Amino acid sequence: MKYLRHGKTRARNRGQCRTSEPGAQFTAMLYSQAVPHSQLQIQESVLLAPYTTFRIGGPARFFAEVGSEAQLLEAVEFASRRGIRMFILGGGSNLLVGDSGFDGLVVHVAIDTAPEIRTGDSFIEHTVAAGVDWNSFVREVCEQGISGVECLAGIPGLVGGTPIQNVGAYGQEVSSTITQVRALDLEASAFVTLTREECGFSYRRSIFNTTDRGRYVVTGVTFRFDRAARPDLSYADLKRHFAGWQRDPAPLDVYDAVREIRHGKGMLIVEGEADCRSAGSFFKNPVVLESVLAGIAAALEVPVEKIPHWPANAGHVKLAAAWLLEKAGFPKGFVMGDAGISSRHTLALINRGNARAADVEALRDAIRGAVRERFGIVLEQEPVEVGE
Ligand code: EPU
Repeated sequence: MKYLRHGKTRARNRGQCRTSEPGAQFTAMLYSQAVPHSQLQIQESVLLAPYTTFRIGGPARFFAEVGSEAQLLEAVEFASRRGIRMFILGGGSNLLVGDSGFDGLVVHVAIDTAPEIRTGDSFIEHTVAAGVDWNSFVREVCEQGISGVECLAGIPGLVGGTPIQNVGAYGQEVSSTITQVRALDLEASAFVTLTREECGFSYRRSIFNTTDRGRYVVTGVTFRFDRAARPDLSYADLKRHFAGWQRDPAPLDVYDAVREIRHGKGMLIVEGEADCRSAGSFFKNPVVLESVLAGIAAALEVPVEKIPHWPANAGHVKLAAAWLLEKAGFPKGFVMGDAGISSRHTLALINRGNARAADVEALRDAIRGAVRERFGIVLEQEPVEVGE
């Protein structure tokens, strides 16, 4: 399996326990399922910007890269002994870190142990460590001709981040293949296994980012794939892409197509491309009452069909936030100081090079204000805000 490891020698393998209390050892025996002691390196004043796709953010007072569940326990112990806050960092692709940084311990989850694979006549199941690169996992699954995550190609970040906001794109969401999430329950001080139902998934939501925010640290995710499943190409962009095809696209064809489409929209991280210094979609697509849709149509004096919208739960529709931004005066390529809007996708706010969190927040507030004034809709921010 190619997605097993990042292939780099991690500091943890070489490391001495280095903390501001020299020689301090952190054992995790308080935890019921404690694993053997291992050494953890804790650094001080580590700039967070390089750990985020936005390339924005001040320093973390303490920073630890954890490569195992044992090290995660040590990190938790360190934070609780000192009575400091803890923030769990994955791939940094959905984060806006404040300019003053984070006055606590940032735990970078880099657990990338070998996956467990279970096969049956009709299914294949991968249990994947949280620190594995998401796209590498998707590619591996597609290369095996298995359908279930091909539409989620090119999404930056790590496997452990995907259940948090129920990552979705091009008609697919991780909640349709996730069967279990393994996590450290910080309240119970124990590792737990949550079923799909217990994760409470819906559009961009789960218990991890709503009711139980901050309670769990995801360490592994189990995906179950139906061997008979075939790619679903109903999403408009995919339909267009495969229009002239003479054969049914395989998962790997869809993987390639999705990456190409994302690239066209500046939603693929390509080093050096300005539109890539972003956190992907900055706002969620709002779900509103049907009457709101009618109100917008009336205000703009256009028929309802001219307004991009999709069915949602009873009596509601989902609107395209990108379209609302454009109609409120914030088109692609819009510039406001060092922050801006991607030249290829209106929903992605970007760091034009030297932006600080304050620049992005100023643009965000201007956009939110305009959309609220024009349409009476309050846009919800997608990236998580960290620190001060
Ligand atoms: N649109 C515009 N202008 C644009 C882009 C889109 O008006 O610049 C309108 C169009 O009407 C278009 C509609 O918005 O038909 C939907 O656009 P798109 O298919 O690009 O999807 P999105 O709703 O803007 C969502 C996800 C993306 C995901 C894409 C593709 C959210 C908040 N975002 O974007 O996820 O890649 O669908 O499925 O649900 C992310 O979460 O960071 C992310 C990139």
